Amino acid sequence: MPTATIDAPGKINLTLEILGVRDDGYHELRSVVMPVSLYETVTVTTREDEAVTCETIGEGVDVSELDGLPVERQLAVKAVRAMQRRLGRTGRGSGCDVRVVKRVPIGAGMGGGSADAAGVLACLRALWAPDLPEADLLAAGAEVGSDVPAMLVGGAALMEGRGERVRRLLGPEEHPAPMWLVAVFPGYHVSTKAVYDACGEAPLTGGAHLCENCARSVRNGDSRACARSLFNGLQDTVNKLHPPTERFCLALGRGGALGSLLTGSGSAVYGLAESERHAHEIRRSLGGEVWSNVLRTLPDGVMAAHGPLVP
Ligand code: C5P
Repeated sequence: MPTATIDAPGKINLTLEILGVRDDGYHELRSVVMPVSLYETVTVTTREDEAVTCETIGEGVDVSELDGLPVERQLAVKAVRAMQRRLGRTGRGSGCDVRVVKRVPIGAGMGGGSADAAGVLACLRALWAPDLPEADLLAAGAEVGSDVPAMLVGGAALMEGRGERVRRLLGPEEHPAPMWLVAVFPGYHVSTKAVYDACGEAPLTGGAHLCENCARSVRNGDSRACARSLFNGLQDTVNKLHPPTERFCLALGRGGALGSLLTGSGSAVYGLAESERHAHEIRRSLGGEVWSNVLRTLPDGVMAAHGPLVP
């Protein structure tokens, strides 16, 4: 049966500002997001019948909590359903088998689940509807989760609205150097909904020029300047709900990070480094107590550039 496969990267948020609460209960966001060099490998194989299956294999991350999770609650399967709805695909030939090799920790705010969904959507477009316009793909992504459109667009992006309005920050001729970082996953999960529920209704912003400054530092591949514009409006709420999160941020700072921040709604934090070597030094300073990884940002993205591979 036809198969498509793609490496879908996780992400970090360099800024995450809360502008207010919307009528639909979601928070109005403004966030600079960048994919990082930690990938989920998503493979989708079409089926002759209408069954949908999803198998997840952990590589360096614990996936045991997915055992027993109803298949329809997995973001990868929600992505299949969103694509079926958009294409009006039902009955025989509308099913598929999804296989995810997971490397992004679950419940970390690093977009692993959203990457799975984005990977499934990109693969299904290649298999079922290569001419589907990007706008339809992004709309299907927005139905699955707030971060999915940004993961589909790939590369450095500005997310606005609930997350569904995404703008690439780099033009086709701009290829800045990647920035190096150390990501730390404290081992516990944070519920995105619980964090947003607890953060209140007041705006949590980082000043008028935060976004511009961050975008400029990304364009210049300048980690020092980027470190000065790191901001996450959810950080104080997560620190209160899960005090060790702050401890890991402080440890990254003591280890020499240029700046450290919570990504998304956590629980992972990261510290920016000057170079790959510097990132390894910072990582060593943490000791081996928790999951950590030296990563680089992917300014150009891979999803948009290459799309899935259909052998
Ligand atoms: O869209 P997603 O399923 O990723 O969001 C999970 C939860 O996070 C939502 O149910 C909502 O409570 C909260 N959220 C929010 N505002 C956003 C994104 C998420 O309040 N922009």
